[in-house]
Amino acid sequence: MGKDRDSSTSFTFPSMYALLRGALLSIVLIFLIHVVLQIQTVRWYSPSPEPSPEWSVFTIWDWVKGGGSAASLAETTSRLRDAVVFLPLTDAKLTADGETYFMPALNDTYDGEEAQHLRFPSPASGGRLLCLSRNHTADGTKNSYALAWSDALPGGAALLPGLTFVSDIFYDYRNLWHGLGAVVPFVSWYRSSGCKPPARWLLYTRGELQKVMGPWVRAVTEAAMGQDVRIETIGDPSQPTCFEEAVVFRHNEGRMSMRKRGETYDMLRCKARALCNATSAGDDDERGGSPVVRMTVLMRTGTRSFKNESAVVEAFRRACAGFGECRLTVKLMSDTDVLVSPHGAQLTNMIFMDQNSSVMEFFPNGWLEMAGPGQYVYHWLAAKLGMRHRGAWRDPTGVACDLPKTDPRCFSLFYKDQLLGHNETHFINWTAAVLAQAREYKLSKVSAVEGGQTQQQRRSRGCPCGG
Ligand SMILES: *[C@@H]1O[C@H](CO)[C@@H](O)[C@H](O)[C@H]1NC(C)=O
Ligand SMILES: *[C@@H]1O[C@H](CO)[C@@H](O)[C@H](O)[C@H]1NC(C)=O
Ligand SMILES: *[C@@H]1O[C@H](CO)[C@@H](O)[C@H](O)[C@H]1NC(C)=O
Ligand SMILES: *[C@@H]1O[C@H](CO)[C@@H](O)[C@H](O)[C@H]1NC(C)=O
Ligand SMILES: *[C@@H]1O[C@H](CO)[C@@H](O)[C@H](O)[C@H]1NC(C)=O
Ligand SMILES: *[C@@H]1O[C@H](CO)[C@@H](O)[C@H](O)[C@H]1NC(C)=O
Ligand SMILES: *[C@@H]1O[C@H](CO)[C@@H](O)[C@H](O)[C@H]1NC(C)=O
Repeated sequence: MGKDRDSSTSFTFPSMYALLRGALLSIVLIFLIHVVLQIQTVRWYSPSPEPSPEWSVFTIWDWVKGGGSAASLAETTSRLRDAVVFLPLTDAKLTADGETYFMPALNDTYDGEEAQHLRFPSPASGGRLLCLSRNHTADGTKNSYALAWSDALPGGAALLPGLTFVSDIFYDYRNLWHGLGAVVPFVSWYRSSGCKPPARWLLYTRGELQKVMGPWVRAVTEAAMGQDVRIETIGDPSQPTCFEEAVVFRHNEGRMSMRKRGETYDMLRCKARALCNATSAGDDDERGGSPVVRMTVLMRTGTRSFKNESAVVEAFRRACAGFGECRLTVKLMSDTDVLVSPHGAQLTNMIFMDQNSSVMEFFPNGWLEMAGPGQYVYHWLAAKLGMRHRGAWRDPTGVACDLPKTDPRCFSLFYKDQLLGHNETHFINWTAAVLAQAREYKLSKVSAVEGGQTQQQRRSRGCPCGG
């Protein structure tokens, strides 16, 4: 213990000098480090020297002379060209409710009016054009798309001039309902963008290239745009095809505003009438201020026709006569307030009828249970056109299906095309109610004439986009 104390004493005593020397050394070291740091700081923060004027001129001259830099520009372009990436047109993993299975990597533009869409070139596409490749008709994942700048299109690409309408739907362009839903956003676009018709259409269902649009849908579209629908089938599928300007709709009417929808269906109606010279006779056939309700029975021949046509016409004639101011005819739809017809393609003629006009529809037995939602297509079309579907009569009698009741073949083999019976009591009673509603509406229109706002006046100003 004592030894420890001694050693500590001997250590304490001479340490005064050591401390002093250490402090001096530290001060010197700190000073040196500080100087070194200062030098480093000056090195890091000093701006790089400005190039001398001679150096700049030389560089620019060298660039202007062409040689190396022009080559590097060409090389950059060529690299951009090679960097164009083609992606599958559809993603097999996504379904209809995934909503973006077509060109899945691209987001829609939506302005609250038109249906969601993609436009090329546009700020959203970074100024790039749309390019498409391959012509598969049965597997959308085998077709592909890419975006490219117009001066760096992928090698061998064809550039098609003008505006291209590109449509993708989940079902079928030959179907009245789905086909019409597909073209309506394009008709609206055509109208809103200065009535510029497209140079071509590209039709896809789930990314599979289609070559055919249903004849009715096609006729209505051609009437609306005043020119033939030219369906592009992609000439050389081994090379990409790029489009100078393209608009893609892939959600049918999607979130198109109600106002735009109404305007578009009015335009379709107006253009179809104009093309067929089916201008309305107007309401100048009123008898002493009381409007005449014009009712048209549109017969079918063959499938789903009435078994006893004369009895049916007689029932409606009696209902009409009992009503007073009613005129029954079988003629152009533009001249009718109430359309009476069995379910069938002839009902598409309702596109010629006015807003708020009425439809009465007839179905054979078995349709309600077996025909699926497609049987309501004319209910839906009437709603789109702003018309009143006044219900359907379903024949309670008909052929019996000798298969188990739930067998789907019952519909195609027995129910689908059977003839219609009739029920005079019901037809007359039903018709009386529809005629009364039609007259009420026409009376309200007569009072609107005094207010100066009638559909006829709007019509006399012609259709949108001329015609
Ligand atoms: C598309 O929208 C989604 C969600 O708003 C976003 O996460 C994604 O980055 C967008 N993609 C592009 C290519 O803009
Ligand atoms: C795709 O294009 C090739 C070459 O033009 C053609 O032979 C083929 O029939 C096309 N396929 C379809 C489905 O149109
Ligand atoms: C409509 O009228 C015009 C001029 O009168 C005529 O040239 C045209 O053929 C008519 N169209 C139809 C479908 O009747
Ligand atoms: C059609 O109906 C009328 C009137 O109800 C009737 O006189 C006629 O016999 C019927 N014709 C047939 C083929 O059932
Ligand atoms: C159709 O009826 C509705 C509701 O009564 C009305 O708001 C609309 O203006 C009518 N349309 C026309 C063209 O008269
Ligand atoms: C015809 O319609 C009337 C009224 O709706 C109904 O009472 C009657 O049962 C119907 N007749 C037949 C044969 O279905
Ligand atoms: C006739 O139609 C009215 C509704 O317009 C209904 O209340 C009435 O029950 C119907 N009568 C018959 C016999 O179907």
